[in-house]
Amino acid sequence: MNITLRVWRQKSRGDEGRMVTYQVEDVSPDMSFLEMLDVLNEKLTLEGHEPVAFDHDCREGICGACGVVINGVAHGPETTTTCQLHMRSFKDGDVIDVEPWRAKAFPVIKDLVVDRGAFDRIIQAGGYISAPTGTAPDAHAMPVPKADADRAFDAATCIGCGACVAACPNASGMLFTAAKVTHLGMLPQGQPERAARVVKMVNQHDEEDFGGCTNIGECAAVCPKGIPLDTISQLNRDLLGALASGDLG
Ligand code: SF4
Ligand code: FES
Repeated sequence: MNITLRVWRQKSRGDEGRMVTYQVEDVSPDMSFLEMLDVLNEKLTLEGHEPVAFDHDCREGICGACGVVINGVAHGPETTTTCQLHMRSFKDGDVIDVEPWRAKAFPVIKDLVVDRGAFDRIIQAGGYISAPTGTAPDAHAMPVPKADADRAFDAATCIGCGACVAACPNASGMLFTAAKVTHLGMLPQGQPERAARVVKMVNQHDEEDFGGCTNIGECAAVCPKGIPLDTISQLNRDLLGALASGDLG
C-alpha cells in the first residue's frame, strides 16, 4: 500500500507546531501502525531529516506508552492501542492524519509525544494501599467475592494510555481516575484508605487542569481496555460518601 501521512511536527513545547505531509510506500497490511511510522522514520533518517518523535515501549498493548490521534480518533479506527492497530485497517491511497493527544493537562513535548506525568501524580495522590504485604499470601487467605475480584481486575487493566482524555470534549481524566479508584476500592486491602483515596485523587485530577466529567461517554468508546463508564458512577458514589462522612484524608 502507498499511504499519505499528515503528521503533527512540533520541535518543543514552545513551538507552534504544524502538519507536515509525507509519502510512505510499500506499506504491508500486516505492519502495525508504529512499524509503518518506523518505515517513515528510516526514510527520513536516510534523507538526513529528523525522524518523527513518538512514544512506545511494549508494542503489545500493555504499557500504555503509545497513543496518537489518527484521523481524529484516539488510537485510530479500531478499539485497541496504536501499537496493536494494523495497516490492514486502512487501504491503498489513504490519507491519514496523525496528531498527539490534545489536552491542557498533557502538554506536547515533541511531535507526537506528550507529557502524561499528570496521571502519575494522580496515582501518587492516592493510588496505593498501606496494608503490609510481606511475602506472597496464599490465594485463599483473604476470600474476595468472585464478582468483586472480577470488577477489581477489569478496572486494573487500565494501562494509563490517556486516550480517554484525548477523546473527551472536556479533556477529563475521570475514566482513568475512576478505574484506579474502582480497582482498589473493590478489594479488602483497599478499604482503609478508600474514602481518603477518592478525595485525594479527585483533588489532584482537578489540580492538573483536566476538565470535569459531563457523562458524554467518548472516553469509554475509545478505551482500548474497555473500562466501563459505570466506574465513574462508582467514583462519584465513593466521593459523595467520603464528603458526607467528613473523611477528607
Ligand atoms: S481508562 Fe482506558 S483510555 Fe483511559 S487511560 Fe485507562 S486504558 Fe487508557
Ligand atoms: S507500546 Fe505499550 S501499549 Fe502500545
